[in-house]
Amino acid sequence: MRTKNFIFILCSVIIISFVLIAFGQNKPEAIQNIVSSTHQQLRNFQDNLRDAESKTLKADEKYLKLLGFTKTPRYYPNDIWRNTSLPVIVTSVREGQESQVYSLMSNIVRIFPNNTLLVYDLGLSTYTLKFLLNHCNSSRCQVQMFMFSNFPSHITKEDTHAYRPLIIQDALQATGAVFYIECNYRFSKHTSSDKVFAVYEKLTKDTHRGIITWPMNSKNPVSSLTHKKMFEYFHTDSENFLFLPMVSADVIMVVNSKFVHHEIMLPWVQCTLTQDCLIPIGAQSGGCRFDKKPLYRYSGCHNYDVSALNIVLGVKTKFDYNTYTYLDNDISFNIVPLAKAIDMLRKYEQNTTTESRYSDTQL
Ligand SMILES: *[C@@H]1O[C@H](CO)[C@@H](O)[C@H](O)[C@H]1NC(C)=O
Ligand SMILES: *[C@@H]1O[C@H](CO)[C@@H](O)[C@H](O)[C@H]1NC(C)=O
Ligand SMILES: *[C@@H]1O[C@H](CO)[C@@H](O)[C@H](O)[C@H]1NC(C)=O
Ligand SMILES: *[C@@H]1O[C@H](CO)[C@@H](O)[C@H](O)[C@H]1NC(C)=O
Repeated sequence: MRTKNFIFILCSVIIISFVLIAFGQNKPEAIQNIVSSTHQQLRNFQDNLRDAESKTLKADEKYLKLLGFTKTPRYYPNDIWRNTSLPVIVTSVREGQESQVYSLMSNIVRIFPNNTLLVYDLGLSTYTLKFLLNHCNSSRCQVQMFMFSNFPSHITKEDTHAYRPLIIQDALQATGAVFYIECNYRFSKHTSSDKVFAVYEKLTKDTHRGIITWPMNSKNPVSSLTHKKMFEYFHTDSENFLFLPMVSADVIMVVNSKFVHHEIMLPWVQCTLTQDCLIPIGAQSGGCRFDKKPLYRYSGCHNYDVSALNIVLGVKTKFDYNTYTYLDNDISFNIVPLAKAIDMLRKYEQNTTTESRYSDTQL
């Protein structure tokens, strides 16, 4: 009995030893694999991590240069387009939205016959671009390419609108003064050019303003629609934004003054170019929950470029909402659903010899 037990134990020990030796030999290799792949991932996210740790707004010089942040920047009123009335109206178009441009153009031509419409191409197909150029290829309406490939890859993420601050800056430094409007927005019927030019004149005179935005329909405070991490990049705290209403970035009028260039556009663009600032880990645009009380608590959805703009404006104006927000009713907008824009374009195209090419009686 004893010998049997002894042999059993001996066998067990030998087997266990073999197993241990086998694993022991594999172990360093397995660990090495894990280490090297982790290392690689770390290296991939190195820039991101560096930004996240230091929380500084320091975009790559090469991107900033492309956008006019140079040692000798262009400023209003010396460096402007002199072949059009200012502000230049700027919009941007993605594949699928091109039908909007025709009715936007009708709308602009009616109110601003002397102001160029600059349409940024956000990566249209050759066919669509040709279609667009049928309606927009003159001194009144110009198509401008936006070279996504010159910028970091997160700029192409559609829902973050990361291209928007870059387009506004690009147009602003070239032309001197810009009225940016999303391509599905139209100036409402009662909006007159006089009212718009009056606001514009005011902006050009006050060198410490130079930018005017429109309120968001929902009166949510900035803190409820902005991820906490973004505030750190601007060395501020969400506590400062609990009662500051959010403004929209769908419509903005801006003049390229020194103040705007250095104090507004630069930090806005820097944050946009820094992935961890614009899109902090965990930030998402959907799934907002406004049932949480109080209203200023973070709703769980982040507004990316709009959030960044609101922080910049808040900080730079000492939270003086009225200085950068248009609060009258004289300039207002309608939103045109894509289906309606497509319908209008079809009707227009059936009218091949129409004289009222740019009439927008339907709006
Ligand atoms: C456009 O320019 C013409 C000629 O300079 C001028 O008479 C007209 O008032 C301008 N219209 C607007 C809306 O600025
Ligand atoms: C745009 O206009 C220019 C100059 O008038 C012309 O040469 C060009 O062919 C036009 N492009 C299209 C696509 O119509
Ligand atoms: C105005 O001039 C600029 C160059 O100064 C040019 O790039 C732009 O295409 C011109 N715009 C119009 C509407 O002619
Ligand atoms: C089509 O032409 C008619 C007659 O000229 C005009 O009344 C109508 O507004 C035009 N429709 C469009 C969409 O241009």
